[in-house]
Amino acid sequence: MAMLTIFLLVSKLIFFFSKFAAATDTINQFESLEDNTTLVSNDGTFELGFFIPGSTSPNRYLGIWYKNIPIRTVVWVANRETPIKDNSSKLNITPEGSLVLLNQNKTVIWSANPTTKGVVVVAQLLDSGNLVLRDEKDTNPENYLWQSFDNPTDTFLPGMKLGWDLKKGLNTVLTAWKNWDDPSPGDFTDITLRTNYPEEVMWKGTTKYWRSGPWDGTKFSGNPSVPSNAIVNYTIVSNKDEFYATYSMTDKSIISRIVMNQSLYVRQRLTWNTDSQTWRVSSELPGDLCDHYNTCGAFGICVAGQAPVCKCLDGFKPKSPRNWNQMNWNQGCVHNQTWSCREKNKDGFTKFSNVKAPDTERSWVNASMTLGECRVKCWENCSCMAYANSNIRGEGSGCAIWIGDLLDIRLMPNAGQDLYIRLAVSETAQQSHDQKDNSNKKVVVIASTISSVIAMILIFIFIYWSYRNKNKEIITGIEAKSNESQQEDFELPLFDLVLIAQATDHFSDHKKLGEGGFGPVYKGTLPDGQEVAVKRLSQTSRQGLKEFKNEVMLCAELQHRNLVKVLGCCFQDDEKLLIYEYMSNKSLDVFLFDSSRSKLLDWPKRFCIINGIARGLLYLHQDSRLRIIHRDLKASNVLLDNEMNPKISDFGLARMCGGDQIEGETSRIVGTYGYMAPEYAFDGLFSIKSDVFSFGVLLLEIVSGKKNSRLFYPNDYNNLIGHVSNSYHSFFI
Ligand SMILES: *[C@@H]1O[C@H](CO)[C@@H](O)[C@H](O)[C@H]1NC(C)=O
Ligand SMILES: *[C@@H]1O[C@H](CO)[C@@H](O)[C@H](O)[C@H]1NC(C)=O
Ligand SMILES: *[C@@H]1O[C@H](CO)[C@@H](O)[C@H](O)[C@H]1NC(C)=O
Ligand SMILES: *[C@@H]1O[C@H](CO)[C@@H](O)[C@H](O)[C@H]1NC(C)=O
Ligand SMILES: *[C@@H]1O[C@H](CO)[C@@H](O)[C@H](O)[C@H]1NC(C)=O
Ligand SMILES: *[C@@H]1O[C@H](CO)[C@@H](O)[C@H](O)[C@H]1NC(C)=O
Ligand SMILES: *[C@@H]1O[C@H](CO)[C@@H](O)[C@H](O)[C@H]1NC(C)=O
Ligand SMILES: *[C@@H]1O[C@H](CO)[C@@H](O)[C@H](O)[C@H]1NC(C)=O
Repeated sequence: MAMLTIFLLVSKLIFFFSKFAAATDTINQFESLEDNTTLVSNDGTFELGFFIPGSTSPNRYLGIWYKNIPIRTVVWVANRETPIKDNSSKLNITPEGSLVLLNQNKTVIWSANPTTKGVVVVAQLLDSGNLVLRDEKDTNPENYLWQSFDNPTDTFLPGMKLGWDLKKGLNTVLTAWKNWDDPSPGDFTDITLRTNYPEEVMWKGTTKYWRSGPWDGTKFSGNPSVPSNAIVNYTIVSNKDEFYATYSMTDKSIISRIVMNQSLYVRQRLTWNTDSQTWRVSSELPGDLCDHYNTCGAFGICVAGQAPVCKCLDGFKPKSPRNWNQMNWNQGCVHNQTWSCREKNKDGFTKFSNVKAPDTERSWVNASMTLGECRVKCWENCSCMAYANSNIRGEGSGCAIWIGDLLDIRLMPNAGQDLYIRLAVSETAQQSHDQKDNSNKKVVVIASTISSVIAMILIFIFIYWSYRNKNKEIITGIEAKSNESQQEDFELPLFDLVLIAQATDHFSDHKKLGEGGFGPVYKGTLPDGQEVAVKRLSQTSRQGLKEFKNEVMLCAELQHRNLVKVLGCCFQDDEKLLIYEYMSNKSLDVFLFDSSRSKLLDWPKRFCIINGIARGLLYLHQDSRLRIIHRDLKASNVLLDNEMNPKISDFGLARMCGGDQIEGETSRIVGTYGYMAPEYAFDGLFSIKSDVFSFGVLLLEIVSGKKNSRLFYPNDYNNLIGHVSNSYHSFFI
């Protein structure tokens, strides 16, 4: 007994002194890590200790961060769900060999309990950022009793294995922090599915958000292989016991990590830039609209860079053509022809090349079947919709079949794999030909929604300037054609003034939706329950009734799904009223410039809105029988219906019907500063080009979420356009 006490005392003393000598990367069973000390890995890269996240949190956590990076970057948190409130807790190793975090009262806050026991257990922080529990004498990684790399939080570091290991019963999951101040698990996760056709899936809560596509023996079906000269050496290990991804940096001096970002719902690779002393985003998943899970619905195929990105697989047609055409794709597609299962010559399979294999949730795999056997297996089962080789290495081997709807297919030019889809026989003959053409087609894949938006901005700037510099041709607001229109008889319903007055509570203030340049707008409810918006034109209008009627008729002819629809009008007792469809989501500015509502506008939605506005504008400028220059395109003139489809309002109508603007085209500038092209604002010259300018400003606002007219960048004393212009020049020069 006395011997033991002396032994303990001596070893404690030895450790006390050795602490100041060198090894501060390790603690043993006789030491504890207190709040005021840290462990530092041997080469000084990582540090383990207590920290307070963010700026407002009162909570303390035990974590690991980069020692030499001035921005505190935590890569692992022990007690992410059980914060510590004071500085009195300690990290210890129990006599049983568990690593425990104890508070003042010796209550366990967090613990790591190895399943196997060591003789003399130590905890060591390795140069990789891995905190390991091991036997003092055994440094073999295979024999670690426990390691933080097996229990990651939100960060995937070089050397870590992300995936599963049946022998160890492990399945590593990355889970984002709830927010900047709170490391507890958020609802954004990344997990490798434990099946014999494994794939990696990111979840937003309980809904799938992104998937890699199944492992096809050489790569993930939806992930092009990583170029060999990359700075990152990415490896997948797949055998019957384990399946995991890992990576290393080919240049060890580059610091890089992969992290789940809850606020943006992206998995980012961030690389430390020593010159700017910041983390730079090297890549992101999902990368584009087609990367988002099931963008195109069942039997749809997503083709990045194409507009619209979704189409039905050959041999399929939209389930709801109406919704599909409005770019509402989630109902997907159905077989174009009825087919009956297994009846002779009624169904067969067509090969689709270069696709990301569909969602494997309802798939079945046998690694030893041939493709021929696979075909038979699928054909025999009437719910089987497709088959493929489960491994494409070499000649291809194995069999995967898909039951039911095929979800989340995308075209992967020069990547992907062959998929055989069940079709009616008459289609299979004709389709195989179509498909051949398709695979030859060079499809430009724009890396991401963001880059396509940036491309649009650049194109817009280019078009605008080349237009402007070429010649200052001026087109008046409405070009002729009105004569022939007069002869035709358009049926625009005339509403009764009494009815409209009742519907709007006699134009009372509480029904007022807003005030446009040409008079107030009211919300009304017709006797049949239909909700409408009523615009009451200025009573000072000097326009005659005949012209007014005529022009309203002209406007009523403008029908496009991205224009607000005119339901009717009313002219009685000096009142001139226009009745429009009512838009439940009000206007774009209501969402765009509101910090909480703007969160509802994700990239795909913003992209759809931009697209819709462009279509509406193109229609006004080119495709309608009249040529309309809007002259006041801005966020508040873009209304949103209940599905957030954009509809341009105040087109032409306002100018034409407002009366007092009709005579002096250049005497009074209509429009809103901030959106007006310089030549219009200063010289009163307007053309479709000035609308394009306004569209560009709107585009920047939609992308940045900032109002052009406000000074948001005090450092360079600029508005949004000026700021973008400066950034553009410093980026390209
Ligand atoms: C905890 O904080 C108190 C007051 O700031 C300080 O006196 C004490 O030394 C700290 N203890 C540790 C372990 O850091
Ligand atoms: C940490 O705090 C403990 C108790 O508060 C104290 O005994 C110890 O000397 C401190 N260590 C350092 C390195 O400040
Ligand atoms: C420790 O116990 C005391 C008395 O039971 C209690 O007041 C205190 O809140 C406890 N501290 C912690 C950190 O749980
Ligand atoms: C990439 O990593 C694997 C193992 O992880 C290794 O075998 C291979 O040599 C590495 N390649 C390069 C170029 O570093
Ligand atoms: C997500 O990324 C943004 C932009 O890079 C950053 O500001 C934010 O702090 C990140 N959020 C988390 C939780 O890491
Ligand atoms: C559907 O089939 C009909 C004839 O059977 C054909 O005319 C049509 O083009 C097909 N539509 C699609 C979208 O494949
Ligand atoms: C897989 O296919 C092989 C060859 O056709 C067959 O012998 C085996 O029984 C199949 N395994 C399963 C689980 O169906
Ligand atoms: C088709 O295959 C699936 C998956 O193997 C199975 O669940 C289903 O029962 C099969 N249906 C028929 C009719 O064989």
